[in-house]
Amino acid sequence: MLGSVIPSSRWLIRSLLAQVDWDRARYFVEYGPGVGTITRHILKRMRPDARLLALEINDDFVRHLNAAIDDPRLVIRSDSAARLGAVLDELDWPHVDYAVSGIPFSTMPPADVEAVLDETRARLTPQGEFLVYQFSRHSAQYLHRSFDDVSREFVLRNVPPVSCYRARSNGVVAKGKP
Ligand SMILES: C[S@@+](CC[C@H](N)C(=O)[O-])C[C@H]1O[C@@H](n2cnc3c(N)ncnc32)[C@H](O)[C@@H]1O
Repeated sequence: MLGSVIPSSRWLIRSLLAQVDWDRARYFVEYGPGVGTITRHILKRMRPDARLLALEINDDFVRHLNAAIDDPRLVIRSDSAARLGAVLDELDWPHVDYAVSGIPFSTMPPADVEAVLDETRARLTPQGEFLVYQFSRHSAQYLHRSFDDVSREFVLRNVPPVSCYRARSNGVVAKGKP
């Protein structure tokens, strides 16, 4: 089961996380961490007092992550990205600085994708960013519909080549606690 996911390459990770302000960011979330390749990079770079919430729906991956990564800053939940708000409320996290996603929009029902985007936009700080990688070009339409500012880098060296997106909302105030 764990073999069913191709871990993200270093080129993909470099592109996806290139613009992160590591000195400022306190709250990260990751959707679909899989075997934890990106998770480990975020943990390596983030502040000692920062936190990372990983939401993964595959229980095999959740078990693997719990066994493989021992870091008090990481919270792993067997839950969908579409339930971000409820999980953040349970954890009493005030907002999200960066949401990082590897979940495949192209294979999800559109309503589920919209739910993930709504939850993400609602919880990101006004300076917050949604960092997304997608193998299907058609997925970009979702981001453009939900976010004001979307940029894309195509990472040819990843196998298969992948698009890394950086999405922001102008002037949207996060719904979370102050
Ligand atoms: C392409 S894999 C991620 C690979 C990962 N970045 C790595 O390097 O190992 C996509 C992951 O998204 C998870 N996933 C799919 N839909 C999800 C959802 N709605 N919420 C959370 N995780 C989801 C899948 O179980 C899978 O582990």
